Amino acid sequence: MYLTKQEEAALTGEYGEAVRIAFEVIVKVGEALGAEKLIPINHAHISGISYNNIRDPGLRFIREIREKGGKFKVPTTINPIGLDLDDPSGIPGVTPEFIEKQKEIIDNLTAMGGKPVMTCTPYYADEIQPGWHLAWGESSAVGYANTYIGAWTNREGGPLALMAAISGETYYSGVHIPENRYPRTLFEVNYYENDQALSSILGEIIAKQTRVKQPLLKGINHIREPEVKSMCAAAGAAGNIEMCIIPGITKVPVDKDIIEEEIPVEKADIIRELERYEPTSRPDIVFLGCPHASIEELVDLARIAGEHPGRAVNNFWVAVSRTVYNKALSMGVIDLLKKKNIRVMRDTCIVVSPGWRETKATVATNSYKTMFYMKRIHGLDSYLAPINKLVSLSFR
Ligand code: F3S
Repeated sequence: MYLTKQEEAALTGEYGEAVRIAFEVIVKVGEALGAEKLIPINHAHISGISYNNIRDPGLRFIREIREKGGKFKVPTTINPIGLDLDDPSGIPGVTPEFIEKQKEIIDNLTAMGGKPVMTCTPYYADEIQPGWHLAWGESSAVGYANTYIGAWTNREGGPLALMAAISGETYYSGVHIPENRYPRTLFEVNYYENDQALSSILGEIIAKQTRVKQPLLKGINHIREPEVKSMCAAAGAAGNIEMCIIPGITKVPVDKDIIEEEIPVEKADIIRELERYEPTSRPDIVFLGCPHASIEELVDLARIAGEHPGRAVNNFWVAVSRTVYNKALSMGVIDLLKKKNIRVMRDTCIVVSPGWRETKATVATNSYKTMFYMKRIHGLDSYLAPINKLVSLSFR
C-alpha cells in the first residue's frame, strides 16, 4: 500500500501509541482488502458500544486505547448504549453494575472526543455533507449515508470505526471507489406505497436477491425519508448491503449503468412477506424507532394515537436520540405521547438493551431490523406490521 511520509511516521509511533495502533490496524485491513492507499475522512461513527453486546473485553479495549492517548481526529458520534441514561426504568436487566460499566464506556469515548449522542441516526445530530468520506460502523446509518445523503462509507466494524476516528483516515476500498458505486442489479419495483413496514420488506427482498452490488431500485421515486431509512436498515440487517441507488435521490458519481441482472418485485412478493410476519395476536410489547425516530415520525405517531380519543396503548415504546427527544419535548410532542401511554426511550433501543430474553415477551414492530434481531439476539417471537395496526393492537 502506498503511504505518505506522515502515514509512515504515524506507523513508527511518532504521533503516539494510540495513533500507531490505529494506523497499523487500518493499514492491515486495507492491505487484506487490496486497498492501494488511505484516504482522509470527514466524520466517524462508532457502533458496538452497548455493554450488553461488548461486555468486559470491549470495555477493556476502549479503556486501553484511551489510556494510550487516543484522541479523535475527526468529528465522531457514538451509537446507542444499553439503557436510557435519564430513565432506565422498565428495561429488564439494567443493574447498578451494568450502568456503571456502560457509563465507563461512554466516559472513555467522550474523553477521546466522541459526541455522546448515543444514536444510530448520527445524521440527525451532525450535518453530514454529500461527497464526504466517512468511517461509520452502524449498518443502517451506512445505508442511509450512501443512499440518501450521498456521502461515502463502507460498513465498518465498531473497532475499525474507532481506529479511523483516531487516525482520521480509512482504507481506499469498497464504496469509497466510484466504480464500486455503479448499479449492477436492477430491481423493477412494480408495487410500492410509503409505509415503513412495507419499505422494510422491500429492503429484505433486495438484500436477499442482490448477487452483484449495487442494487438500483426503479419505481420508488416517491419514497420518503423515513421509508428510505427503514429500507436501508432492513437491507443492512438481511444482507451485506451498504447502499441502494434510487433514481432522483441517490447521487452516483457517474451516470453509468452496467446492469448484470434484472429482478422484478411484484405486489404479491411484498404482500406475501408482510403476511408472513404479521402478528397473529396481541403482542406483549410494541417497539418503534428502529432506526431511531425523527421528529417528524414522532409527530406522526402522536397524530395516529390521537385519532382514538380516550384510549391509551399498552407497553408501547419508541426510541429516539437525545437530540430528537429534546426537540420533541420543547414542542410538546413528548407530553402528547405520554398521555397515550407511549414511552419514549433515549440513548438505546430494545435490541441493544439487556434482559429481554428472560421476559419471553412477544414483540411487534414496524422495523424488519428489530424483528430480525429480537429473534436472533433475544430469542423472542417477533412480528412486523404498519404503525396503524400496531396502535390498534395495543390498546388496553
Ligand atoms: Fe438503531 Fe437499535 Fe435499530 S441501534 S438501527 S434502533 S437495532
